[in-house]
Amino acid sequence: MATTADLERRIVTTDPAATRDLAARLAAVARPGDVILLVGDLGAGKTVFAKGFGAGLGVVGTINSPSFILMAEYEGRLPLFHLDLYRLADAAEALAGGLLDERQGEGVTLIEWADRLGGVLPRARLEVIIDGTGDAPRTITLRATSASYRRYLEAA
Ligand SMILES: Nc1ncnc2c1ncn2[C@@H]1O[C@H](COP(=O)(O)OP(=O)(O)OP(=O)(O)O)[C@@H](O)[C@H]1O
Ligand SMILES: [Mg+2]
Repeated sequence: MATTADLERRIVTTDPAATRDLAARLAAVARPGDVILLVGDLGAGKTVFAKGFGAGLGVVGTINSPSFILMAEYEGRLPLFHLDLYRLADAAEALAGGLLDERQGEGVTLIEWADRLGGVLPRARLEVIIDGTGDAPRTITLRATSASYRRYLEAA
């Protein structure tokens, strides 16, 4: 049986480029249907991570945090769905608005502020927990909630 140690890995990055590079390495092992939660305070680096992940998937356009769009879709080796749910009231709104649907099975879904979704998240997922803000180094914990996501830990 897998232990917690098998399913977690911690990396420290000292600048945004290192966070982007880490995310790009992880994107190399992404598979259709993967769900990745980006967890961390305001300014922790969730969007920096998303930009690096997109680069690793070969996304050409710029990934940013649009203020009034909850989900943006990008073309890469796999489709990339980037959700930023900071302004979402609750999970019902996400479901009603078609934010979570079967199309995401074909691509990779990155979710910032996934706690807004309450219990409707898939059980199997990768959690990227970013600790630190400002100019401080970031401690980035990769946590696979199922063995199928362990490949990300190996790619880090
Ligand atoms: N090691 C690091 N990794 C990532 N970002 C860093 C690092 N060091 C400094 N930064 C800076 O921290 C900021 C992170 O901003 P970012 O928009 O990615 O945060 P966020 O977690 O998406 O915030 P929000 O919750 O507001 O969406 C950027 O300005 C980035 O340059
Ligand atoms: Mg962000």
